[in-house]
Amino acid sequence: MAKKKKRYICQKCGYKAIKWQGQCPDCNEWNTLVEEIIDPKVEKKEKKVKQIDIKKLSQIKASSETRIETGFGEFDRVLGGGIVPGSLILMGGDPGIGKSTLLLQAAYKVSQKQDKVLYVSGEESEKQIRLRADRLDVLDSELYVLAETDLPSIAKNSKKLQPDLLVIDSIQTMNNPDLDSSPGSVSQIRESTNCLIKLAKKQGIPIFIIGHVTKEGSIAGPKIMEHMVDTVLYLEGEKHYAYRILRAVKNRFGSINEIGIFEMKGHGLKEVLNPSQAFISERPDNASGSVVIPCMEGSRPILIELQALVSSANFGNPGRMMSGVDSRRVSLILAVLEKKLGFQIQSEDVYVNIAGGLEVKEPAVDLGLVTALVSSFQDVVIDKDFAVLGEIGLSGEVRAVNFIRQRVNEASKLGFNKFIIPQNNYDDLKNKSDQIFGVRNIEEALDLILEGEL
Ligand code: TYD
Ligand code: MG
Repeated sequence: MAKKKKRYICQKCGYKAIKWQGQCPDCNEWNTLVEEIIDPKVEKKEKKVKQIDIKKLSQIKASSETRIETGFGEFDRVLGGGIVPGSLILMGGDPGIGKSTLLLQAAYKVSQKQDKVLYVSGEESEKQIRLRADRLDVLDSELYVLAETDLPSIAKNSKKLQPDLLVIDSIQTMNNPDLDSSPGSVSQIRESTNCLIKLAKKQGIPIFIIGHVTKEGSIAGPKIMEHMVDTVLYLEGEKHYAYRILRAVKNRFGSINEIGIFEMKGHGLKEVLNPSQAFISERPDNASGSVVIPCMEGSRPILIELQALVSSANFGNPGRMMSGVDSRRVSLILAVLEKKLGFQIQSEDVYVNIAGGLEVKEPAVDLGLVTALVSSFQDVVIDKDFAVLGEIGLSGEVRAVNFIRQRVNEASKLGFNKFIIPQNNYDDLKNKSDQIFGVRNIEEALDLILEGEL
């Protein structure tokens, strides 16, 4: 096949050059010239104008697509009910977080239903994949493996095998021989993604693409990849915890609020079927600074344990360390506590953590934060039967939160029977048998927690 024409195109102003240069001669930006392939066929085609019938939206037939289930309920939920045929799904995450493990397991589960799955790895040899498969116990099915980085041959082999699902591990190792730049460069990643899009649409097979995340947190190389695919998933988690959270940041076929929770075990990832139980299971007895908050993750309530530690700062600026919560929100709450209630807390060292490595950014955790901070500051233990929720305003008022019933029910299920909730939500829960306290402001909540010790 004749080599395709190449150009270096400025990503800022669109200037085309034949040779690479460090600075764009047109807009004078540095490092913006990126190698791109110019397909002569496409160029010629564009000149012919086709006559197309324009249809009314109502005339287009809506085929109810059958989705492929991954076999992991948690995975399917994040995808919006399974894999849509012909779609491109990007799975991002830190190296070593478990992307290959999860997709190999999902590939196996799909292949068990007589669906052909092709797992292409540019990172590991066939033997290494086999070793991993032994560990995960995923042999004996319609799962095919190919250790290859050359995209045209992957496309050719895939055409021959006609799989129902294709997994590419990872986009950074894929190579298009028409380009001179090395695998993992911006132009290679873009061209490879383009190539895979064509493959997915032409053959109607869904493709999972694994992408590593750079230190800055974006999928390595171009963010543009996120625009090209249908769904972008992130597998997240602290390396030191066993929990892994699968989150969608873009999904053309479902909501992006749902999360899937997994636990890394000796034999791969396992779904966490009762996350509330898991996240509060290690809560210490009689420890100050710990509180349980019913949060919403998508449509599902999850109980979390929030821990705060306030200790006197010895010198210099007070220390702050936040994990799992929005640090600006904590600063705001510290300011409210100091200004409205007179706690000299801003000059103290403050540490806040959500057990299990979960990240919660919704404002319903505010009141829980307040109670945990004050509990640690005053060294008073919060009654272990309490669950706390509410948003806090700048004047210390407690504001209503959404999904109050689901949150309270989830906590009731796990044995919590005392609730501190916003007064404005109180009417929704009047006829519940638990002890429910509606509060209007921080003082009322703290009175309940500290039982008059203030
Ligand atoms: P991996 O899927 O290779 O990560 P990624 O593809 O995202 O780079 O996962 C590697 C980590 O997972 C490694 O640190 C070992 C751990 N692991 C287990 O704990 N149990 C297992 O069964 C497997 C396969 C891996
Ligand atoms: Mg991997």
